[in-house]
This record gives sequence, C-alpha cells and structure tokens, in this order.
Amino acid sequence: MTETLRVDLQDRSYDIRVGSDLIARAGAEIAPLLSRPRVAVLTDETVADLHLDALKAGLAADGIEMTALALPSGEATKCWAQFSRAVEWLLDQQVERNDVVIAFGGGVIGDLGGFAAAVLRRGVRFVQIPTTLLAQVDSSVGGKTGINAPQGKNLIGAFHQPSLVLADIDVLDTLNPRDFLAGYGEVIKYGLLGDADFFDWLEQNGPALADGDTTLRAEAVRRSCQNKADIVAADETEQGVRALLNLGHTFGHALEAATGYSDRLLHGEGVAIGCALAFEVSARLGLCSQECPSRVRAHFKVMGLKTDLADVPGDLPDADRLIALMGQDKKVVDGTLRFILARDIGNAFITSDVDISTVRSVLSEALENRQS
Ligand code: GLY
Repeated sequence: MTETLRVDLQDRSYDIRVGSDLIARAGAEIAPLLSRPRVAVLTDETVADLHLDALKAGLAADGIEMTALALPSGEATKCWAQFSRAVEWLLDQQVERNDVVIAFGGGVIGDLGGFAAAVLRRGVRFVQIPTTLLAQVDSSVGGKTGINAPQGKNLIGAFHQPSLVLADIDVLDTLNPRDFLAGYGEVIKYGLLGDADFFDWLEQNGPALADGDTTLRAEAVRRSCQNKADIVAADETEQGVRALLNLGHTFGHALEAATGYSDRLLHGEGVAIGCALAFEVSARLGLCSQECPSRVRAHFKVMGLKTDLADVPGDLPDADRLIALMGQDKKVVDGTLRFILARDIGNAFITSDVDISTVRSVLSEALENRQS
C-alpha cells in the first residue's frame, strides 16, 4: 500500500509517496511531470550497483529513457569538485529547463543533486528517490540542498523544493544495520521535538521495525514525513519553527566536525548523541525532569544506537573546543548560539538564552565518563 502526504507550499507544493514497489512504478509516478520522456539521474556507486537497473526498468515501463551519473559514495562527495562534475554532466546530457533531474540515493546525493538542479539553467525541477532511512525521513523532504565547505557542513546551498518524493520502503532492506540505525536517530527526533505519542509508539515498535517489519517501517517513515511536512509548510526557510528540526544537531555537528566527518560517527549517530545531550542540558537547567533524558537514553540503548560521548571511538577534543565547533554551526544568529532544548518529551523549543557553563559542565562530565 502507498500513502501520499502533501507538503503544502502554494505553487511549490508536492507529494511524498511512502510505500513498497515505488521504484518499480517510478515511470508511472514521474511521467505526469515530464514534458518529454527522458530523465537524468544522479546517484552514487553503491546505489547504482544495487538499484539502478530496477529504476531503469521502472522508468522504461512507462517509456521513459534514463541517463545516469554515479558519483563516489560517501560524505566527501558533497564538495565543489563533484558538484561541478554533476552540473557539467547534466549540461552534457542536454538537460533542458523543462526537464526533470532525479536524485537517487541517500542524503549526500539528495543534497548535491537538489543543489545541482537548483542552479542548472537557473533552476530545473527534480524528484527525490531517497534510498536510506535518513534521507526518506529527513533530507529528501523540505528543499534544503547543498554541499559542504572546509569551514563546515552544508554551508553552501539553496532552498529548492523537489517536485515529488518517492520513499520506497523496500530499499531499506539493503541498508546495513548501522546505517539503518543512524537514520532511526532522525526518526526519534520527530517524537522528541513535537510528537510524544510517536515517541511512545517508537518505544513499543522500534525493535521490531529495526528487525525488518515493513508495515512498521512504512508507518515510521510516514509519520516522520508528516511531522516534517507540517513544519516545512509552516516555515519553509527556517525563520522560526523549522529550527526545531535541528534538535540534537548543534551538538551533533560539533561531534561530526571533531571526528573529521568520518565513519567514526555517522550523521544520525551524532544527532542521537546530540538529542541525549540536549535533554541532559534541559534537565540541568530545570526545564524538564531528569526522567526525560533517562528515558531518551534508555530507548537509544535498547535500539543499540550510539547514545553517549563514550560511544564515539577515538579521541575527542575538550568541552571548550566542542563549544567552539558549535559556533561554526549554521544555527548561530548574530554571533549567538541557538539551542533546541525541551520542556518534556515532545515539547522542544528554540532558545539563545542558555548558560554556556551548564553546557560546558554537561560536556565535561560526558567526556570524563569516556575515561572511566
Ligand atoms: N534537516 C533539517 C531541516 O530540513 O530543516
């Protein structure tokens, strides 16, 4: 069964479809968007090996021709060199202003492909076919596109909404458990920031979902996308409420920078540890009960998700350096760090009014626990 959700953005509105067999039906889904039966696909080498033949067949079933460029897999691809390679390839393929580009892959391909579509001929339409849990529940929805700079993640980019998102649940079967769990970090985030019932549901169903239950997976993706669609519709360009989606990210991005954006810490793992830290800081500031961070950490541990700084292998810098790395984050406004903190599970809020010494003590204690 396929569920359809709508991201309501006036003339930039679009559907998100969540279900099985969507890659096999990609041609039928995408054909209404096309002015000629031809698409250019940006993907990565891993996804190309696993799924590109299926996409080609799905498009061909509706008479749509496909050309594809497979970029190297991994975060390092989100750079100027690969971006200009992709844009020049799209020009070589004679992609026209009315054509559609498909971003077929995880967050890296979705972000880079969306940014390429945003700038190509001053903007062409694109379709997201996310192949990781993280991309299905977060990065493929909402129009944030871009690449990384030496100064930090996602610092170069544009808002460019896709014309359609196809989240095919079946492809999640090919994810390794670590990548699946990292994506689950972003799923939990929706429960923690604004949907306490969803967090309860995840506590009940998370283990079965991780074990491969397709119905539960589809429900988790649907509910995450619905939460995201509502927030994006209310605040497309992050002037306010959309910043809630950054729960866990200020800490998480600092940890990712400290670990060199390497496989020592995946993005969703950084977000999970960041959520646990955000709840701990909230409890220390008296904003929520100590039970909240304990419950958050307990669920992460049941799921086998990275939870504490102790779960990050290798050296980490001290608390002051981590705070300095947070200062490089996009969430800095007028030189002041903004935090997403919580009054309860499902009740997060945005604040710049945080006593940094509390953040320093929470980080210092977490770093000390690594040594004990
Ligand atoms: N990933 C956060 C956002 O889309 O706003």
